Amino acid sequence: MLLIDEIRVENLIEGCVTDNRNPIISFSMSSDCREVALESATVKIDDWEKQVNHQLNIVYDGDLEPFTIYEIEIYAKSNTGETAYRRTSFQTGRLDTPWEAKWITDKSYLPEKGCSPIPMTFRKNLHLSQKIKKAYVTATAMGIYELEINGKQITKEYFAPGFTSYKHTLQYNYYDVTEYMEEENIIFAVVAGGWAVGRFTYESKSQITTERQAFLMELFVEYEDGTKDTILTDNTWQVTLDGNYRFGDFYDGEVYDATINVKDVCWKTAEETSLSFAPEITVQYGCPVTTHEYMRPVTIFTAPSGERIYDFGQNFAGVVCLEIEGKEGQEIIVRHAEVLNENELFVKTLRTAKATLTYICKEGCQNYSPKFTYMGFRYIGIRGIEEEKIKVSAYAIYSNIEEIGSFTCSNPLLNQLQRNILWSGKSNFVDIPTDCPQRDERQGWTGDISIFASTACYNFDLSRFLDKWLLDVKYEQGKGGGIPLVVPKHGNGAPTVSTACWGDCCILVPWALYLSNGDKRILQTQYPVMKRFLNSVKFWAGLGSIGKRVHIWKWLFQFGDWCAPDGYITDWMKKGKWIATAYYANSCNIMSQIAEILGEQEDSTYYKGVFQEICDAYIEVFTDKKGQLKREFQTGYVLPIAFDMVDKNTKRAMGNNLVRLIKENQWHLNTGFPATSFILFALCDTGRIEEAYRLLLQDTYPSWLYEVKCGATTFWERWDAMRPDGTINVGKLNKKDSDSDPGMCSYNHYAYGAVGDFFYRRILGVEAVTGGYENFQIKPVLGGGLKFAEGSHRTPFGTIWVSWKVEQENFSLEFEVPVSTRCTVVLPSGKKENFGSGRYVLSEHYVEPA
Ligand code: BGC
Repeated sequence: MLLIDEIRVENLIEGCVTDNRNPIISFSMSSDCREVALESATVKIDDWEKQVNHQLNIVYDGDLEPFTIYEIEIYAKSNTGETAYRRTSFQTGRLDTPWEAKWITDKSYLPEKGCSPIPMTFRKNLHLSQKIKKAYVTATAMGIYELEINGKQITKEYFAPGFTSYKHTLQYNYYDVTEYMEEENIIFAVVAGGWAVGRFTYESKSQITTERQAFLMELFVEYEDGTKDTILTDNTWQVTLDGNYRFGDFYDGEVYDATINVKDVCWKTAEETSLSFAPEITVQYGCPVTTHEYMRPVTIFTAPSGERIYDFGQNFAGVVCLEIEGKEGQEIIVRHAEVLNENELFVKTLRTAKATLTYICKEGCQNYSPKFTYMGFRYIGIRGIEEEKIKVSAYAIYSNIEEIGSFTCSNPLLNQLQRNILWSGKSNFVDIPTDCPQRDERQGWTGDISIFASTACYNFDLSRFLDKWLLDVKYEQGKGGGIPLVVPKHGNGAPTVSTACWGDCCILVPWALYLSNGDKRILQTQYPVMKRFLNSVKFWAGLGSIGKRVHIWKWLFQFGDWCAPDGYITDWMKKGKWIATAYYANSCNIMSQIAEILGEQEDSTYYKGVFQEICDAYIEVFTDKKGQLKREFQTGYVLPIAFDMVDKNTKRAMGNNLVRLIKENQWHLNTGFPATSFILFALCDTGRIEEAYRLLLQDTYPSWLYEVKCGATTFWERWDAMRPDGTINVGKLNKKDSDSDPGMCSYNHYAYGAVGDFFYRRILGVEAVTGGYENFQIKPVLGGGLKFAEGSHRTPFGTIWVSWKVEQENFSLEFEVPVSTRCTVVLPSGKKENFGSGRYVLSEHYVEPA
């Protein structure tokens, strides 16, 4: 039977509210027959109708009215003559409805510089005399807000309206509030500093977007008799700084005083204000940050200092939930940490982030969970209340992204590594892709997501999450074509110039996203950004150079082999020109493919040519032309092999040299951020499969499994975040720094988790050949003594599932191909076969290498 399993509108299965006048619709199907593909489909929205013969990215080009629900109906017919039907709906937001409400604030309040402001509470009493048919709100803020109507929480997410490049774009939220409205109503909105006003960046900047918080809201009421009302923020609202939330800050935490009765505090008239810039205000187009896994402590003990420590057994980004039996005025202090040292919370690596909650109790039973902060932690320490008077749990919070991948195999340590990849991903997908969730940073470092994007897209549906962030990359690209090191740049003081790997995010991230979801729009929107970026790289590479050296990219600034196990920051940076040149080549190569997909044939040929010239320059300048680097280091071999920059023979020679360096390093890697995700590919693809597995399964420092054996539940920023001698690293950046200087060492950084790409693309062997996996391959690479591996990846067409096992000189592979896709299977013997949709089992004789 043919079924339409899912219909997505703007990449959302349900609850889509959009301001896009041409939303896209995609659907996936399943069938119990083989070789099934869509023949044709009719997509209907009211009297708009479209005949299509494809399932992804069907553009609606009919009319749209604001605040209207649209029904979508899809009738599909397959090549086997079966038919299927499904319907869904989506809704429009304001579209172009102008805002009539005024921004409101307390103009007399000037927050202290370098600190987050006191949260502002706004209120409005509202009498509605007629019967209500429908009521809905659109709201946004400068800062982050929580909305409550008649004591009911309206905002379901954290940190609304989210983090964007505010001067260009600001999201608003849409909430249907019909069920909350009564005759007499009281509306409260608390606005904390968040990103726009609060302390941000390790330089403790504050008021980066505006001087103080402000709130903007329109409440639309439709009465049963057909009349309408709009309630707007204006100077009929009141404001106070004396509410329950005394403080809210991403790094430092929250202070909440439950003894305050907000009705009794001193209120004054809210003042109307305006922004000094004009962002486009669009209904939320990213993913809301919401609660996910419910976490309970696995151990509770008292530290030598007397603080009671709760261990959640997992490092994650989230908020604690406290159920308290308290006394009026009793003060409870909660501190957070990722690691312990001598049974105490170790907080030095948080640098200036205080990561502390202070809760002042009212009398009796009460619940508390922070709203205007989140922490990256595994442990918390509590003071101020006896153990039996408080029940502690927590929620992981992150953007509402779906988990669409899975991987398990016969090696439990690799399975733990996969769990760590998922947790580092989740912890760092909090509205924007962050570097880490705990210290005074949590910024959108572009290099980290450049490296992790491909792995991330195997594991999560990041369509909306990355689309939103990439829009900010576009807005914030420098005039000269550079990409900020951090997006949104938001207070980051570094000049916007092109930097390898970090800047390449404008090509690598959309490319990973396109391969996973097949949505060409991201390539189209980013195309001019990519071109400008590569032009700027061309300029910097060529500056002051002649001959082939015009393609060697060194200037202006490079991170180099960032966080490599050997040496310090200056040692990493010294490797800049090799890494930058290889990344430049790789981006030109990808760009040539992107240009072709977009029908830009001339560009495609041009970038292919530049790619070739850069490859030649790398060989000429850095090697003896026979596959040996003049200055040898692992990354210097990994990148040209993995980026396909050299011919077959040179590749093989480079592979041999790489293996020699690894051997000389006692079978350890020695790579930083830009190459670690590629080292196993470089080995595998030069025929050194055994060595690739040996490196993957290495469990002494530095290695992935070393971290696992140390008990890591997420990925570390530094290979030696915990040293083999059991001491904790504070992450010195320079040799001369003292061990007690807070450096750079997080326990939840996803960059090295990019090894997950190898799990999917080589161990399972699943790789997209065309965007959205319409064509893909399954080519498992066996080794490392693995007896089986199983995994899945949900594509926009449906789920690819792969399971292989090795048993008594036999290799068997079971797999499932989604409807309307085609797959090429390559068995370990090299035997190749093509398949349409369906479930299959193949097997062949296989002898494990001794
Ligand atoms: C961040 C990194 C980032 C790096 C670049 C660090 O502070 O945590 O992950 O990419 O800076 O300098």
